[in-house]
Amino acid sequence: MSKAYDQVSDDDLIDLFIGKAALSGLVRGFGPSPNRSPVALAPRAKAGQGNVMGKRERGQEDIDVPPASLTPLRGMPGEVSGSFEVKNAAPLSKAPHRAFKTSRAMAAASTRNVEIATAMQSQLCVCEAPELRDAVNFDEGRTAPIHRWFRYREGFSPAIFDMLCATRRVFDPFCGCGTTLIEAKRRGISAIGADVNPLAVFVAKTKTRNYAAKHRREFEAWAEQSMQCFSEWPAPKMPLLPKLFQPEALSELLRLRAGLEECEDRTVRDLLLLCWLNILESSSNVFKEGNGLKYRNKKRQPGQYATVPDEVWVPRYFGNSIRNFVQQRWHDQCLSVSKDLESRTKREPSKIEILERSCLDAAIMDEVRTCDASLFSPPYANRFDYFEAFKIELWMGNFVGSSEEMRQLRNRSIRNNLTVQTRKVRQRADLEDFLHLMDDEASSVRMGIRETLRGYFEDISLLAGNLRAVLKPGARVLCVVGNSAYAGVLIPTDLLCATIFRDAGFEVQAIKVARHLHISSQQRSKMVSGLQPYMRESVIACQR
Ligand SMILES: C[S@@+](CC[C@H](N)C(=O)[O-])C[C@H]1O[C@@H](n2cnc3c(N)ncnc32)[C@H](O)[C@@H]1O
Repeated sequence: MSKAYDQVSDDDLIDLFIGKAALSGLVRGFGPSPNRSPVALAPRAKAGQGNVMGKRERGQEDIDVPPASLTPLRGMPGEVSGSFEVKNAAPLSKAPHRAFKTSRAMAAASTRNVEIATAMQSQLCVCEAPELRDAVNFDEGRTAPIHRWFRYREGFSPAIFDMLCATRRVFDPFCGCGTTLIEAKRRGISAIGADVNPLAVFVAKTKTRNYAAKHRREFEAWAEQSMQCFSEWPAPKMPLLPKLFQPEALSELLRLRAGLEECEDRTVRDLLLLCWLNILESSSNVFKEGNGLKYRNKKRQPGQYATVPDEVWVPRYFGNSIRNFVQQRWHDQCLSVSKDLESRTKREPSKIEILERSCLDAAIMDEVRTCDASLFSPPYANRFDYFEAFKIELWMGNFVGSSEEMRQLRNRSIRNNLTVQTRKVRQRADLEDFLHLMDDEASSVRMGIRETLRGYFEDISLLAGNLRAVLKPGARVLCVVGNSAYAGVLIPTDLLCATIFRDAGFEVQAIKVARHLHISSQQRSKMVSGLQPYMRESVIACQR
């Protein structure tokens, strides 16, 4: 992780981020409840008994997003909810909040920001579509069969696929964990996806494979057998590993891994590995939140973070036995996969292909060939680093083996964050109008947000060109994006992307506003009211 990324903290308080979790108004963390005493683990049910569908994970809480959750907390300690005894309270960054040199200059920039956005919007058909509110986030995927095999909160809802009218072959250039592909397969439609993250590609491939009844039987047998293994799989050489897991949790996980690796059937082994990858986060000392990982033993208090002692939070979260806790997670996960396999052993006729490639690479289009629809959600221009957020799974799953490999992976990503190296880019007049309004002194500007955004929209232009090359005339394109704001300046990603698609020869039919960001009163006071309607997540509908 670059140093620059670590340093985001001070005047980014006026940078608003449309992270999927922040937009929903709720973040589902795994922090322990303040009022809940450790609960003994339920006796393990036999495979096929009990229903884990829709069950909330133990200790999982809904936490109202505090204002600062809309800002990157990279490098700051994490938090757990609950009232604990405070030890080693660490002060938050004391860096002074920097703003525009004068409030008058700030007000003038904001007014101009509204004017430019409004003029741009008047060229496009923008409509409110509250019925799509739940279609643009992964909430439904958390419990839906197959989708639930891996928790990927950056994904969209399986239901969004219904927005694509009849189609024969779909392309998802940012396929992530495979929502588009799974839904295509379910309907007997062929699909092709691409992603630069090997973890996402592995998950998507495993979710969309054909499974026979014998696979399910073997899977169940190996799920049980893996728990009896005595040896341990070698731990990855991940620098942070000892901080990320309690020793017993790590040891139990490595025993399970050693057990599942003995399975010789590659199809079944991949399924077991996917279950194992999905329980890593809940068995660790951290959880994904905002723009990265947060420690469960950190508690946010006014003006400071407090460390909750291990003897307090560990038994509260893991119960009496960490080993039992991990085994229970494994068992529950394998059980839900087994249930989904039971209802899906029939072969579906569609062909699903997944490429571990960048969709910005023009050469990939020879492999994608002709499609008649595209449904996708690119990483938003919100500095979310997918490799940082999934670093536990990437290292533990042996998808990366060194920091250098992580760096190389990051550089293949669309340029949505500061860690992706930026090459020189051509400037777009419409984007420059917004960048020009930013305060040169804001930390995000000093750290290079202008270059990042130039790179991001240039990458979207590359994508638009590639899509045009592979889509048949008349093909429908649906793109889910969220807007952001940096240094008090709104970047209307939906309007900019729609303009880019139009310039590439697509007919932009509508920008459907699926939901608006809840802005805290603290943030609201820093934004002129005319900008608030633009803080939103939208579906851009185009036709080739
Ligand atoms: C918002 S997620 C997509 C989630 C997906 N719609 C789902 O429901 O699972 C964006 C994905 O784009 C991937 N990505 C980033 N840069 C890429 C590139 N240049 N080519 C292909 N995929 C890329 C990221 O790894 C991430 O998985």
